[in-house]
Amino acid sequence: MLPEKLFLNLPKIDTDRLILRRLEYSDLKDIFDYAKHSAVSEHLIWDAHETEHDSIEFLNFVNEKYNKNQPAPWAIELKKEQKVIGTIGFLNWDKINSKGELGYVLHCYYWKKGLMTEALKAVIDFGFNNMYLNRIEARTVPENIPSQRLLEKVGFIKEGLLREQMLIKNKFKNFFIYSILKKEYWKGEGNDKSKNMLHKFGGGS
Ligand SMILES: CC(C)(COP(=O)(O)OP(=O)(O)OC[C@H]1O[C@@H](n2cnc3c(N)ncnc32)[C@H](O)[C@@H]1OP(=O)(O)O)[C@@H](O)C(=O)NCCC(=O)NCCS
Repeated sequence: MLPEKLFLNLPKIDTDRLILRRLEYSDLKDIFDYAKHSAVSEHLIWDAHETEHDSIEFLNFVNEKYNKNQPAPWAIELKKEQKVIGTIGFLNWDKINSKGELGYVLHCYYWKKGLMTEALKAVIDFGFNNMYLNRIEARTVPENIPSQRLLEKVGFIKEGLLREQMLIKNKFKNFFIYSILKKEYWKGEGNDKSKNMLHKFGGGS
């Protein structure tokens, strides 16, 4: 059975170093702290936040999505610092075809520590086990090498190039389309969660 009101009641996900949870207005300063860096949004549709007002608008946008039970991200909270250092989540969820697309962003001070690998594995796990997805997609511009490394590390397959797919910083940009399928994710037959194929990827963080 599909989860009732998933985004309205976004569940917490606990990993070794992270808590994935609903974004709160009290996270404002943390959001501004990562979103103000142009390096963070360089390959993304949005511009670096100039003031906390931009971050409030983002929180308003996300909150509206939660309230309408529409796809909305998890905050990525670093347990050790009790600080939100990014977000990850489904940008859309096509229930008829059991597929969803992921997006993610992390504070640049915390890059290359395996943190997004940890968050992404947990969210893929959630998508296949709890949302009963058959296919999870992600798109990234060819210049975004970290994002491609990340996706390939956790088992996504590059399917091809989408030409001039989206307008980023006033330029029509090509995007690689990646996906991972449920049948690739399960190691063996059946639905035994202990046979989760992600356990075999990447050597952790
Ligand atoms: C993409 C992003 C989420 C990666 O997060 P991260 O926590 O640094 O990634 P990880 O540390 O888990 O690393 C995953 C893999 O990518 C590699 N990688 C990360 N940053 C890299 C870089 N700058 N150059 C080369 N490889 C890199 C890591 O080495 C690792 O592979 P390995 O274990 O085989 O060495 C982060 O760079 C980011 O937030 N970028 C800005 C937002 C963005 O571009 N989002 C994606 C939109 S499609």
